[in-house]
Amino acid sequence: MNQDAPNRNRRRFLTAATTVVGGIGVAFVAVPFLSYWRPSARAQAAGAPVEVNVSRLEPGQLINVEWRGNPVWIFHRTEDNVNDLEKVEGILRDPESRQDQQPEYARNRHRSRQPEIMVLVGICTHLGCSPLFYPEDRPHGMERDWVGGFFCPCHGSYFDLAGRVYTGVPAPLNLVVPPYHFPDENTVLIGEDEPDEGEA
Ligand code: FES
Repeated sequence: MNQDAPNRNRRRFLTAATTVVGGIGVAFVAVPFLSYWRPSARAQAAGAPVEVNVSRLEPGQLINVEWRGNPVWIFHRTEDNVNDLEKVEGILRDPESRQDQQPEYARNRHRSRQPEIMVLVGICTHLGCSPLFYPEDRPHGMERDWVGGFFCPCHGSYFDLAGRVYTGVPAPLNLVVPPYHFPDENTVLIGEDEPDEGEA
């Protein structure tokens, strides 16, 4: 096992400040590191939507925000990331997202509204650990095709960059896609569908 891999990949996370609806903007830092921004306890208790400005989220970058006490990852997929999603479908358990792990608008290959913007709840569907981000490096124990994704070290589950689970691992389901939409081109609102779609 490459002992450096998890730390190296953790450093790929960017910190971001987000706002509950009606609040202020987002702050990115130059040197990526893992960090959460936490809405107020009152906002969390209410399950308030979380507004994230993604205007500075570059291709290949991932930010980690908190919604209803859970990590939510927003990843800007590169063009290669999008194209590569097709390559591993033969070794995924539910490549067409037949299980209800996402809103209808995310029942597609990339499991998102926009192919390049991934939004996932970062909780493993086996026993609830938070997987690690491996956008390029092959994670420990992975001997099949790998085009980037997530590795849960608790019991060894693998997911692609759309949160689709590989076959032959403990996790039974794809990662959850939360309800979300884009109120404008620079903003993701996590926790709320578009008005005519109804809230999940
Ligand atoms: S909690 Fe992720 S593999 Fe068990």
